[in-house]
Amino acid sequence: MPAALDLRIVDTAAELFRSAAREFATLAGQTVKKKDRFSVALSGGSTPKTLYTLLAVEYAKAVPWDQTYFFFGDERSVPPDHPDSNYRMVNQAMFSKVPSPPDNIFRIYSEKDPAVAAREYEETLRSYFRLSAGQLPRFDLILLGIGPDGHTASLFPNSAALNEIERLVVANWVEKFKTYRITLTFPVLNHAANVMFLVSGADKAGILHEVLQNPKANLPSQKVRPEDGQLTWLIDRPAASALSR
Ligand code: 6PG
Repeated sequence: MPAALDLRIVDTAAELFRSAAREFATLAGQTVKKKDRFSVALSGGSTPKTLYTLLAVEYAKAVPWDQTYFFFGDERSVPPDHPDSNYRMVNQAMFSKVPSPPDNIFRIYSEKDPAVAAREYEETLRSYFRLSAGQLPRFDLILLGIGPDGHTASLFPNSAALNEIERLVVANWVEKFKTYRITLTFPVLNHAANVMFLVSGADKAGILHEVLQNPKANLPSQKVRPEDGQLTWLIDRPAASALSR
């Protein structure tokens, strides 16, 4: 049964990232107490960078790094040291500053052929979550952002991955960027225990209004509805400025 939609609007970007860091650390601690490990799929792009830096510095003592396992919601089809690499962004902001055991970090091998990288990442998920055929991984937390066109992860409007219901990870051709991206699919996103969108800045106000208040918009971010999990939208006031009460 989907949990209620949890929409939290905070005044500033600084408060947004602090709330997200607090939420992350609390959930990680609670989950580790229950099952000794916490699995999280990280979002890329620019928004979450501040969160990752906060976790690595101010919240470093609150995160059970030894029992936290990091995955990625998506990755660009570039090497891990490329400026566009999500792994590179997270490594600079967080991994390089925290005592995460290297075996706790599962990056997408995006320097490989996209289809190969997707298949290998799918195997990584199957192995970590000990999945049998047809089973879905249940992440404790998936962090997501929202793009100006309503995409999330690398599930872009009019892209083939939107219709994927079998695979866990696919190489998705993104026409607007003329490139492949590797992405988790909706079945995986919607099987998570917790999904948290982080949305910051006035430039996201228009698309956020469409996603949250125009059911006819038919945007990828609207298809994230965990069937048995908590969906949280953490939004700052500039990003929320087009939402009607
Ligand atoms: C990526 C992300 C993508 C991102 C949105 C928002 O790889 O870029 O996974 O889905 O969350 O594009 O990006 P910004 O945070 O940079 O606005």
